[in-house]
Amino acid sequence: MKKTLIIILALATGLIMVGQAAAQGISGSAHDFSTETWNTSGEICITCHTPHNAMAGKPVLWNHTLTDNSTYVNNLQTAFGTTWGTPDGPSLLCLSCHDGTVALDNFGGTTSGTNFIGAGEQVGDGTTLDGNHPISVDYNAALVTSGELNDITSAETAGVNIYGSAPGRIQCGSCHDVHNSAGITKLLRTSNAASALCMACHNK
Ligand code: HEC
Ligand code: HEC
Ligand code: HEC
Ligand code: HEC
Repeated sequence: MKKTLIIILALATGLIMVGQAAAQGISGSAHDFSTETWNTSGEICITCHTPHNAMAGKPVLWNHTLTDNSTYVNNLQTAFGTTWGTPDGPSLLCLSCHDGTVALDNFGGTTSGTNFIGAGEQVGDGTTLDGNHPISVDYNAALVTSGELNDITSAETAGVNIYGSAPGRIQCGSCHDVHNSAGITKLLRTSNAASALCMACHNK
């Protein structure tokens, strides 16, 4: 009797896990380009990573042509007086497709791609990030002290990602997970229902 119950529980748990797997992960997500006509390999990872002959000096075996960072102007100030960062680090990997200056199919050394990001998913334009949440800025320690921002441990416990060692930095991947690990709409790291994502960092 007890054994039967355990088996039923095990089956039920298995079913729940299968249910979660369908929504989580990169397969079938906005970043699964395996069925696009411009990706003839039919692979998922290849548009961004390659096991061999990746771009020299770039992180995570990068395989996609990068955006030109030198054209970005660093001319904005946030409400708190911090000067915007010129995009750097892993945010540049995102902007390679998302700022609309480099074709989606410019990967694996190809530079003749013709498919670009749609207007609804474009972030920045190769010159400015005006109108977007700050990225490549420090997780300002003075604002933690003054109580404007929650401390890093609380923010990360609430699900976001602060890059590097203290004070740490905000990048696209602070709020998003490129591989859809959490299975949350817009590839978010944690749900923004009732603005929970915003309040992970901002003490409002
Ligand atoms: C649309 C582009 C894209 C695709 C497709 C993609 N990745 Fe990534 N991956 C990234 C970016 C960008 C980073 C760096 C993220 C960061 O640090 O913010 C990364 C980081 C990684 C890392 C190191 C850090 C981590 O997050 O674990 C591994 C491992 C990785 N990817 C594996 C894979 C594999 C395996 C696949 C295919 C199943 C894949 N990725 C598909 C863009 C992509
Ligand atoms: C991962 C932490 C984090 C998350 C999540 C986050 N923010 Fe921020 N936010 C920051 C940091 C850091 C700054 C820059 C502070 C400074 O000026 O030094 C900032 C700045 C701002 C500013 C001032 C921008 C300006 O140009 O003056 C606003 C407004 C803002 N955030 C709103 C939001 C909203 C709305 C959300 C949710 C959609 C959000 N933030 C999510 C960390 C975060
Ligand atoms: C290889 C090009 C490429 C790279 C690199 C890339 N993206 Fe995307 N991303 C796209 C395309 C194309 C779409 C729109 C797909 C569609 O039409 O559904 C998209 C969609 C998205 C969406 C919207 C998802 C949705 O469900 O609507 C988010 C958020 C996003 N990307 C964030 C990122 C972040 C953050 C990074 C870096 C960590 C990144 N992307 C790197 C090409 C890319
Ligand atoms: C502070 C958190 C935060 C940061 C940093 C951030 N995003 Fe987002 N992003 C969001 C939220 C929240 C949404 C969902 C907005 C909605 O559903 O209305 C979103 C939506 C998107 C979308 C879907 C299209 C849209 O406008 O709704 C794309 C694409 C995207 N982000 C890409 C990026 C890229 C690329 C970066 C870095 C250059 C980035 N994001 C940095 C919070 C962030």
